[in-house]
Parts: sequence; structure tokens; C-alpha cells
Amino acid sequence: MSTHLLDHFSTQLDQLKQQGNLRQFTANLQQDRYITINQQRMLNLASNDYLGLAADVQLREQFFDETPNAQRWMSSSSSRLLTGNFPEYEQLEASLSHAFHGRAALLFNSGYHMNIGILPALADSKTLILADKLVHASMIDGIRLSTAKYVRYRHNDLIHLTQLLEKYHEDAAIERIIVVTESIFSMDGDETDLAALVRIKKQFAKVMLYVDEAHAIGVRGERGLGCAEQYAVIDEIDLLVGTFGKAMASIGGYLICHSVIRDYLINTMRPLIFSTAQPPICMAWTGFILKKVLSMHTERQHLAQISQQLQHRVQSLGFDCPSSSHIVPVIIGDSAQTVEQAKALQQAGFYIMPVRPPTVPQHSSRLRISLTSKVDFDDLKQLENHLMRLKHAG
Ligand SMILES: Cc1ncc(COP(=O)(O)O)c(C=O)c1O
Repeated sequence: MSTHLLDHFSTQLDQLKQQGNLRQFTANLQQDRYITINQQRMLNLASNDYLGLAADVQLREQFFDETPNAQRWMSSSSSRLLTGNFPEYEQLEASLSHAFHGRAALLFNSGYHMNIGILPALADSKTLILADKLVHASMIDGIRLSTAKYVRYRHNDLIHLTQLLEKYHEDAAIERIIVVTESIFSMDGDETDLAALVRIKKQFAKVMLYVDEAHAIGVRGERGLGCAEQYAVIDEIDLLVGTFGKAMASIGGYLICHSVIRDYLINTMRPLIFSTAQPPICMAWTGFILKKVLSMHTERQHLAQISQQLQHRVQSLGFDCPSSSHIVPVIIGDSAQTVEQAKALQQAGFYIMPVRPPTVPQHSSRLRISLTSKVDFDDLKQLENHLMRLKHAG
């Protein structure tokens, strides 16, 4: 390739660097609740392993002891519709279905596949999608790949959502309206009022709810089934999705829905039809983890307690922090300043990542603290002291 062709890309990279928005991979080594980068060992506060299960060596040993070599399939070698539908898939779907009140369950290779696949399959030109302004990029990509018309409503503003529903619901050209949101938002750590959302849905016959529980599965509800369980609305959410890559210590996505929707997606959803299914061993591992997660009440309770303490502390220090969950952002605003502050916290032994545009809106760069049940009250105390210093220095 001639340097002339590369110039365009290197100029863009230079611009990102100047704005403090350049992203790079870092080699890391993870152990229990710590992460080591460039030989520096830090408390891992950037992990999605919310229940500490991915880092649990004993758990892995138990799984491998119970799984003979003959069952350790490392590839499915095909889409599920050809030869890839191993028993592990059906077993996991059956377990999910059992946990989620007998509703149908369908699995996907990742949460990203799930969100870019379901929406285009279900939403045609007679569909309107109303999406929260802050939904994850995977849902935005799914919306863009669909032929539906779409409108964003102000973040977590259910009054604005209702106004839009009143405006569009009687339009004869619109046959279905899909309302798309997250339960716990990945970057702000705040929550949708799912009970209120369900009440709104009941007023409009054309509405289907699509709720992504990526950050709530494992963490919320008596059995860890998410905010839908916590607020007793599992049966009311038409398309209840989530991922296994976070608290569930595995990989993949799931949908809980009506069996008609499941059958329809098996026939129409392109990432499901045209991609090799996950290795069966991953499905077996997810099934193994699911059984554990259902009874991890103590860990969930601890995570809720440390989360509340940190939210209050960050807010009382005067930082902008909308969180009501284990994802606790400290919003700084300026990207370069956020990167500097993240570096200072890392030097002090806390691995906290700066999150910048385009992942979050312009001028809302933040330190994203992501708590796991492995963090204890002593860790919090030390972190709070450093945040206080940072506030005073700023
Ligand atoms: C809300 C939400 N949905 C979906 C995804 C994608 O899930 P996965 O990592 O399994 O592809 C993420 C990942 O960060 C997410 O935060």
C-alpha cells in the first residue's frame, strides 16, 4: 500500500491523539481481584466480572473435573441450523426457559450479535423503533441495520417516551412499535423504571418492549435474573435480552420471548443463521455458571452494599454521578483531564479506565468504576480517599 493511501488514516489517528481520544490495547494479566499491567499490580475496578466468577480458579477446576474430554468440544464447526446444534445448546435454553417462568429462550454468539440481529429481523418498514438516547452501540447498530423508522427519546425520560407514543400510535402506516432500552445503563450506571415502562406499554396496543439486561443479569433479582426479576415484570417484557460475558463469566447472548418470536428469529435472524455457533464447551460452562449464580445471594447483597456506599461518597464529594448500581461513573467532562486522572488513580493502585467520546456523549468523559463482589469495604475506603484528593487537586 502506498504511503499516500495511509496518510488519510494516520492524520485521523493524530487527531484522536491530540483530543486525548486515542485507544490502544494494553497487555494485562488478571488474578483474582487484581490486574497487572506493565508490572504494576492494581485492584481491578474496570472489570465486568461482577460476581468474581471468571477469576475463580476452583470453579474452573470443578467444571473441567465434571466435563470429560469427550464432551469438551472446542468448536461447533457450523451454524445451529446445519450441524452445530449440540445438546449443550438445548440444555442451556431449557435451563433459561425454566428459570424465566417457562418462556422460550434463544441463544446467540455474543450480546453484540444478539442486538445487531434481533432488531433487523423483527423491525420492518411498518415498524417504529423508539430507543433511549443512551442505548449501547450494539442496539444502535441493530436499529441502523433494520428498515424501521426510528426516533430516540431523552435518556430515561418516560414522559418524553409517552409523548412520542401518543404522537405515533394512531398512525395507520405503523403496525408495531418497539421500545428499546437497557435496564442498567452501561456507562451511567443508572436504571430504567421497568415497572413504569410496563405500565406505559399496557396503554398502547402496538408496543413491544425490548430490554437489555447485559449489566443486570447475575447481579439483580432474588435469583440473579436481572431487574426484570427484581421488579416482577419478567412476563411483561416481550423481548428480554442479556449477555453472558459479564457477571455470568462466559460468552454469548440470550433472548427470553414468546415461542412464536423464537421460531421467527430462527428463520430470519442473519447473525444466527450465517455464523458458526459458539463452541459447545462454552455453552456447557454457561449452564454450569447459571446454576451457581441462581443461589449467589450473599455476593449480590455485598455488591449492592458497596455500590450504594461508593455512589453516596462520589456524589457527596460533589462529582456528577448518576449511578444507582455497581457501575459508578465519576464524570469529569474533559477527555485529556479524565485520562490524566485515570493515570493518577492507576499509579495509586486502582485500575480505573477513562471512558471518552464516542463511547459517551461529547464533554462527558468519565472515570468508569465498575465494582465486583470481590471488592471489600477497606478497598472502598482507600479509593474514596484518593477520589477526595483528586477532587481537591481539581
Ligand atoms: C448493554 C450492552 N449490550 C450488549 C453488549 C454486548 O455484549 P457482548 O460483549 O456479549 O457482545 C454490551 C457490552 O458491553 C452492553 O453493555
